[in-house]
Amino acid sequence: MQLSNRISQIQPSATLKVSGKAKQMIANGIDVINLGIGEPDFQTPDNIKQAAIAAIQTGKASFYTPAAGLPRLREAIANVTATDYGISVDQTNVAVTTGAKMALYGTFQAILNPGDGVLLPEPYWVSYAEQIKLAGGVPMGMPVTDGFKVTPELLEQALTAQVKVLLLNSPENPTGVIYEPAELQAIADWAEQHQIWVITDDIYGKLTYNGAKFTSIAALKDQLPTNMIVINGVSKTYSMTGWRIGYVVANSELIKALSAFLSHATGNPAAASQYAALEALTGLQDDAEMMRHAFEQRLNTLYPLLNAIPGFSLATKPQGAFYLFPDVADAQALTGIATTGEFVDQLLTEAHVAVVDGNAFGVDHHVRLSYATDLETLKNAVSRITEFMKTHTK
Ligand SMILES: Cc1ncc(COP(=O)(O)O)c(C=O)c1O
Repeated sequence: MQLSNRISQIQPSATLKVSGKAKQMIANGIDVINLGIGEPDFQTPDNIKQAAIAAIQTGKASFYTPAAGLPRLREAIANVTATDYGISVDQTNVAVTTGAKMALYGTFQAILNPGDGVLLPEPYWVSYAEQIKLAGGVPMGMPVTDGFKVTPELLEQALTAQVKVLLLNSPENPTGVIYEPAELQAIADWAEQHQIWVITDDIYGKLTYNGAKFTSIAALKDQLPTNMIVINGVSKTYSMTGWRIGYVVANSELIKALSAFLSHATGNPAAASQYAALEALTGLQDDAEMMRHAFEQRLNTLYPLLNAIPGFSLATKPQGAFYLFPDVADAQALTGIATTGEFVDQLLTEAHVAVVDGNAFGVDHHVRLSYATDLETLKNAVSRITEFMKTHTK
């Protein structure tokens, strides 16, 4: 009995793997601090939970919805995007999906032919490469500036006849970097000139800190350019990772194709979750702001503490998302631990702190820590890592 070639070329999600190992250790009674997972520690706000409960109790959530989502939800997403991005879009430009993961998966299925290349500025989120492979495409990791940004010059160097798509993620997982409008304009011009699709993963767009402003590359004109595909969702902003609602905003022809794909792949995203997402996007935003503010405080506390750990360095302070991506080359040199994978393993087994190996994001000698957990736990994690460095420094 043999598995398909397709499935044999993909790896399980590295972030879920680390987190699974940490959870197993916790289940075995070990006090592990899990900074491996990218999920807010807050419960979903009450008004959102109540909207789902009402949808279940009134029976509205009992039935299939259209494959691309409830018309009211598609309309609400179009309205929020039109307002936030200053572009004119309507519900024919929107497909609701089972998490932003399915938004990306369906998009790759809809636009990639076998052998088509997707440029992935490094570091990049773990699932992009595997999803591209599942669509028959070729993930093409590419170098970025020291500030973790891609430029038209670097894109020009990476360009081959194979390249069909550029994937941008801002605010970025794992670096927390946000692109400036002028930088985006230059990238958009380059993509237009070469007729390259741009997928912009804006899932962390509302999680920006210390006055940093997020602009999407899809928000530079009054109209959404035909080659731009926006990926977004409610998972991170509204602490709704378990509800699985994401969405795509793109030209209506692509949305039609995507809807056909979704009609066979998922049928529709869970109806109760769609009613919850409708409330998230149209209801009071106070809880979302409270959570954003909490992440900001954590970043401001954790950033200097982490930089003070011998061998850990973070040149620029992240501006968004909820991750830190320190360079640990010196920490490895100090401790004589040869690979970042081993360093991460030892941190987990000895210091009981779970972080993710930067290699999972295409960049060696870095680790990713998530600060989507409370301040006390974060400070405790820093103490444990500091102690680990003290005992292992040669
Ligand atoms: C950059 C990025 N895009 C997409 C997703 C997927 O989000 P969702 O939980 O809505 O599928 C994540 C989740 O970790 C992410 O970090």
